[in-house]
Amino acid sequence: MLKNYHKTNSTMKIGVIGAGQIGGTLIRQYTKAGHSVKMTNSTGTEKLKNLAMETGASAVTLPDVVTDVDVIVISIPLIAIPTLSKELFNNISAGTAIIDTGNYYPIRDGRIEDIENGMPESVWVSNQIQQPVIKAYNNILAGSLACSGRAKGDPARLALPVSGDSKQSKDLVATLINDSGFDPFDCGSLQDSWRQQPGSPVYCTDLTLPQLEKSITKAKRELLPERRELGLTFIMKHDPAKWMDWWKDFAEHNRVIYESELT
Ligand SMILES: NC(=O)c1ccc[n+]([C@@H]2O[C@H](COP(=O)([O-])OP(=O)(O)OC[C@H]3O[C@@H](n4cnc5c(N)ncnc54)[C@H](OP(=O)(O)O)[C@@H]3O)[C@@H](O)[C@H]2O)c1
Repeated sequence: MLKNYHKTNSTMKIGVIGAGQIGGTLIRQYTKAGHSVKMTNSTGTEKLKNLAMETGASAVTLPDVVTDVDVIVISIPLIAIPTLSKELFNNISAGTAIIDTGNYYPIRDGRIEDIENGMPESVWVSNQIQQPVIKAYNNILAGSLACSGRAKGDPARLALPVSGDSKQSKDLVATLINDSGFDPFDCGSLQDSWRQQPGSPVYCTDLTLPQLEKSITKAKRELLPERRELGLTFIMKHDPAKWMDWWKDFAEHNRVIYESELT
């Protein structure tokens, strides 16, 4: 059951591209917090009918979802990013923050040469859409995002890293993360965002702010792909239809992989 951690005083207008596990969870949280939300997907608004009824978010077309909003969330697999035309973002309002929740999994996204050669995943996304992006929400499983939120000040409250080059946009994203029941942590520039990618000790390990602050400095860039694949072996053994049930086990499994960097 999604709780209300914070009813916002400053309502934001938010457009969400991709209403799947992560996008759908964010749509539920943003609407609960009092924000005004539009959403879109790849297969048409019919599929979003139930989510629209549940949350009050409106299901719209892709051009509509980016129009007249303060925040755009892109929450689709990386393989679909090149299908978003550059022109899509041509008329967005100045100061609109674009959040990228994505992670690179070659088995799903195909081989992306730039990323294989070390380009941070969100830098690649930013280059593709030719817009600055803020990397956030990529390091928490949808099940945990839906269930682990806690009130501000709770010592067990989990923290989420935020990377990007605009302080104004990062502040905005930090407000949204707080609304959802998590502590935001400024992880630095978009070039630094590899620290929160799959294979990092802060990837799906559900850490509190003091734990995250410490562990993120221990991320090892050269080990990311190998450790991402170690995490993936666990995912491949589980039923994707029950993803929202086994997230705790995945976080537990990752904590074992990253044990030396979590202490
Ligand atoms: N699942 C997690 O726990 C989790 C956690 C952190 C980060 N992430 C990352 O967040 C991203 C989204 O993951 P997810 O698990 O939420 O994916 P998902 O459940 O498969 O949902 C993907 C959503 O994107 C939509 N979509 C796909 N292509 C699109 C396009 N070209 N235009 C508009 N909408 C499009 C899909 O619409 P249709 O249904 O109509 O096809 C669907 O609503 C991925 O990069 C993933 O790695 C996921």
